Amino acid sequence: MSYNLLKGKRGIITGALDENSIAWQTAVRAVEEGAEIVLTNAPVAMRMGKIQELADQLNTIVIPADATSLEDIENLYKKAQEHFGGENIDFILHSIGMSPNVRKGREYGDLNYDYYQKSIDISALSFHKMMQVAEKMDILNEWGSVVGLSYIAAQRAYPDYSDMSQAKAVLESIARSFGQRLGENKKVRVNTISQSPTPTTAGQGISGFNVFLDYADMLSPLGNATAGECADYIITLFSDLTKKVTMQNLFHDGGFSTSGISHALVERLSK
Ligand code: NAI
Repeated sequence: MSYNLLKGKRGIITGALDENSIAWQTAVRAVEEGAEIVLTNAPVAMRMGKIQELADQLNTIVIPADATSLEDIENLYKKAQEHFGGENIDFILHSIGMSPNVRKGREYGDLNYDYYQKSIDISALSFHKMMQVAEKMDILNEWGSVVGLSYIAAQRAYPDYSDMSQAKAVLESIARSFGQRLGENKKVRVNTISQSPTPTTAGQGISGFNVFLDYADMLSPLGNATAGECADYIITLFSDLTKKVTMQNLFHDGGFSTSGISHALVERLSK
């Protein structure tokens, strides 16, 4: 169902790899709500994923960009502006995460520090880079909105989330610091959404993922939030209905983050 919440708005959506991606679902919903978008992903993901299929479906373009490269981000914004007939943009979704340590199964007590820096660069500093370049190029319209995606391992220890826990803590902190700056300078808001575990390529890369997916589902009174539901929430943050929400880490997790134990878990553990 469409409410035309993004009518007349233009935006950039990173991170759509396949239909499970939170970014993929968000792109579809954004267009349904009347937005014009461009898609972007790392050049390597263009070969692995199905992003061109999504672009064809939504009648838009894909601009390859490695989000750790300032030049790529500049080129992304330039091309996006060209695509939008010279107009600035109203929203950016940062939906990017990757840890080489997690991918290669390194234990938290045996991390490779080059990989560690890559995890932080890809999953957190890229958020800063995207906003820094956006500010320098003055590409965001007033009352624009920037959203990043986080996970509760920023606040609590999850053994297999590894160095991504630190990456998410940095991501959330950047949302506050850049949110303050862009709010003052440009009336642009910046938030992160802390999403339930979600079965996507990035999610399933974490070992034991299915166990913490089930655990979170059993603890959350409303159950885990799906990628589609996350997309809906993101749309509200891009819309004019949330103009004064900024510098927040917003939990979108069915109540997980404030639950202690649930009847479902008590029952399971009593067996
Ligand atoms: P996904 O695997 O579909 O998306 C991750 C995206 O990051 C991919 O499209 C990948 O190509 C992109 N990426 C990786 N390196 C990049 C680079 N250097 N430059 C540009 N793009 C790059 O998985 P998902 O779950 O949709 O991930 C989106 C965001 O949601 C990530 O920040 C993730 O950490 C976060 N998140 C995911 C949860 C989950 O359980 N799946 C839970 C909470 C947050």
